[in-house]
Amino acid sequence: MYRSHNCGELNASNINTEVTLAGWVQKSRDKGFMNWVDLRDRYGITQLIFDESRTDKTVFELAKTLGREFVIQVKGTVIEREAKNKNIPTGEIEILVSELNILNAALTPPFTIEDETDGGEDIRMKYRYLDIRRNPVKNSLLFRHKVAMEVRKYLSDLDFCEVETPYLIKSTPEGARDFVVPSRMNEGQFYALPQSPQTFKQLLMVGGMDKYFQIVKCFRDEDLRADRQPEFTQIDCEMAFVEQEDILNVFEGLTRHLLKEIKGIEVDKFPRITYDYAMKTYGNDKPDIRFGMEFGELNEFAQHKDFPVFNTAELVVGIAVPGAGNYTRKEIDGLIDWVKRPQVGASGMVYAKCNDDGTFKSSVDKFYDQDDLGQWAKITGAKPGDMIFVLSGPANKTRAQLSALRMELATRLGLRNPAEFAPLWVVDFPLLELDEDSGRYHAMHHPFTSPKPEDMQLLETEPGKVRANAYDMVLNGNEIGGGSIRIHDKATQQLMFKYLGFTEEEAKAQFGFLMDAFQFGAPPHGGLAFGLDRLVAILGGQETIRDFIAFPKNNSGRDVMIDAPATIDDAQLKELHIKVAIQ
Ligand code: AMO
Repeated sequence: MYRSHNCGELNASNINTEVTLAGWVQKSRDKGFMNWVDLRDRYGITQLIFDESRTDKTVFELAKTLGREFVIQVKGTVIEREAKNKNIPTGEIEILVSELNILNAALTPPFTIEDETDGGEDIRMKYRYLDIRRNPVKNSLLFRHKVAMEVRKYLSDLDFCEVETPYLIKSTPEGARDFVVPSRMNEGQFYALPQSPQTFKQLLMVGGMDKYFQIVKCFRDEDLRADRQPEFTQIDCEMAFVEQEDILNVFEGLTRHLLKEIKGIEVDKFPRITYDYAMKTYGNDKPDIRFGMEFGELNEFAQHKDFPVFNTAELVVGIAVPGAGNYTRKEIDGLIDWVKRPQVGASGMVYAKCNDDGTFKSSVDKFYDQDDLGQWAKITGAKPGDMIFVLSGPANKTRAQLSALRMELATRLGLRNPAEFAPLWVVDFPLLELDEDSGRYHAMHHPFTSPKPEDMQLLETEPGKVRANAYDMVLNGNEIGGGSIRIHDKATQQLMFKYLGFTEEEAKAQFGFLMDAFQFGAPPHGGLAFGLDRLVAILGGQETIRDFIAFPKNNSGRDVMIDAPATIDDAQLKELHIKVAIQ
């Protein structure tokens, strides 16, 4: 037996008990005649004491050789501590050690294993197993486990069945590039790793499984950001014989359950807004609604004067920033520079200060009088003491720019409180999206999403206007889940592939199996998938998902610990029938 207790559970009620503990040496304090060692494991820290007058001489001497992160086992008696530590559960006791066994020595770690470490990101990633010993990382992984357990419990109780689907498959288009795996047994052919189990979950519905879920790895070769990893985890779900309303209810229920069980927070029914409303009001299809600063469209009250910048713009749109009326000229110029950075791309910004006495002072006073500015204030909801910022230009671009400014200002003003949770549904997404480079439409969600029946007739004439039975769940400005009601008949699916530019042969070669299945009694069905990493990170009060993944990739898609990706040797390449052109 390596241990009778863990390092987090002993307290005053255990005094005089003989115990055996095992763990890592966090630190030791050697006072010559007395040596204290903090012993750490996943559960906590217990103080050990080696006392010259009470401890066997060999054990006492051996304790002096212990270095940080040595793995040891001790036997001893629980005694009351003289200097108690109220901050930790084991703070009232210590272990008077009688036996010490060094299980493994350790090199000095390259960074301190403390909550506040001196290690930078790169070194911590290289020695991720040491980073995992630190409370912040360890606790994030435990937190993730707790969320996953609650998800499994909730869905199982509703009769959802977890089914595993294969990883070696054929491309499933979710809008990213595939990671591919060469097949040794089939020369010149490749598997694709799933971007999601989309087609398989639909086939499970044809198979009569009725309610499916899976906590599953997905793989997407796309550019990385704080909320994206090349391999990430979905809570993937599908249901048969449902309409959009059924799905929204079930998964709103799941999210409400998680907020209650994990965060102790009760939330009301989630607001539902349409995609069009989200874009007009927040410039964004994943709006953060923890704060206001909603967009006010000002064309009517900005294009009647001689200000050419506004007069030639498709859209003039502003936001009222609460309490920003006292920004200095320097602060305002700083913000103007911020929106002009290439990442945001505005060509300039107009501002109007709302004075406490109800008057206005703007950067365009030459063109607009107090009545005009009063209208701007009314439309943006500005109050005395606020500042109105106005951008103009092509509608979509300008909305995106103002959305970036809205989020930046909210962050600066401390309005994005991580302890507050504001979920919502965005519904009625467009079915198709125009790719400006190729001039072709592609599926905004994926090609299996059903159009709204009432919009079907627009497919030929105005494809961009067709709405889909598709929805996203948004939490604190992040898309945490998305899904749709699916097409479940061959003819409509074929039509959809045609509109997406597939020839009949291409559609058959890539998705013939699905269209075949639709001919054997496919039930109406729909579903959604949550991004587990994102959900966990946001519930944990953060937006970077990397901290909640045990072994994440860096921004170049590398695992710097195992040094992957890596080259493979010639023999392996040959076996896989791969010829690499060496330059
Ligand atoms: P979608 O592509 O919207 O839908 O993905 C679902 C959710 O997965 C998360 N997500 C990611 N998380 C981390 N890193 C990534 N690279 C990444 N990409 C996506 C997001 C997103 O909301 N098959 C459909 C679902 C369906 O229709 O049922 C799908 O995969 O939180």
